[in-house]
Amino acid sequence: MTPEARPRDLILEATGLSFTYPPSAKGPGQKALEGITLGVERGTIFGIIGPSRSGKSTFLRLINRLQEVTAPGQVEGSLRFEGKEIFDPGRDPYQLRREVGFCFDKPQALDLSIADNVTFGPRLAGVTSRGELDAIVEETLRAANLWDEVKDRLSLNANRLSGGQKQRLALARTLALRPKLLLLDEPCSALDPISTARIEEALVAMKHRTTCILVTNNTKQAARLADRTAFFLMAKLVEEGPTQQVFTNPVDDRTDDYISGRFG
Ligand SMILES: Nc1ncnc2c1ncn2[C@@H]1O[C@H](COP(=O)(O)OP(=O)(O)OP(=O)(O)O)[C@@H](O)[C@H]1O
Ligand SMILES: [Mg+2]
Repeated sequence: MTPEARPRDLILEATGLSFTYPPSAKGPGQKALEGITLGVERGTIFGIIGPSRSGKSTFLRLINRLQEVTAPGQVEGSLRFEGKEIFDPGRDPYQLRREVGFCFDKPQALDLSIADNVTFGPRLAGVTSRGELDAIVEETLRAANLWDEVKDRLSLNANRLSGGQKQRLALARTLALRPKLLLLDEPCSALDPISTARIEEALVAMKHRTTCILVTNNTKQAARLADRTAFFLMAKLVEEGPTQQVFTNPVDDRTDDYISGRFG
């Protein structure tokens, strides 16, 4: 079967998804997303690029229902994870957040040892076996490309790590719950090129197990990592397609302008 003929296994599907922040004393509610329709294929890295305030973070926060905790607003349209509606009132957001992990741009290490940072989520979820917890520590630190640097000092306070190491620790902490989908919001914005490269290697190595949606303000990073890329502009999806095509032969002039640095 040619790749085109193969049915795409979509882990996430947005159809006509819109989101409006609530009105405030300063004015009417801001429409942060407008009619977004896209699909994310399992086992891939899906890049989202776009200038500031285009709705990228709002989109990520809707996927694991973090948005309703930070600033609830009006959702229209549909967003399905593994075929099931995310906003279904009967859906358990805690279970959803176990399956859909979120890693922020500036991670905070918990004031605990490196190992305890990683096992925090599993212990909350009821894992008590020492052997199982040790295995999670090694497996997830390896996946996050941090194991070799910390394996001899797992009881060190995590705040002693460098910024780049803390970001990989945050990635390990998120992976410890074995999410199916990983949401990353500008994970390398505060990192040097070497730390960035280590995160990028980790994401590529794990993508077959853990599908990833990567929001990045670094278009070159999307070009390097993403299988498909979406370009958001002023709450709308301008275009979405195979990364190579979006970067070398975009359909919309605004995509071309953004990628070539003419605005944003
Ligand atoms: N808590 C909030 N209350 C009201 N409006 C908000 C809130 N957070 C974001 N917005 C608005 O929603 C729009 C989209 O913001 P969002 O943070 O999703 O964009 P972004 O693409 O992630 O931007 P950046 O690249 O700067 O992170 C913006 O116009 C922003 O002002
Ligand atoms: Mg953002």
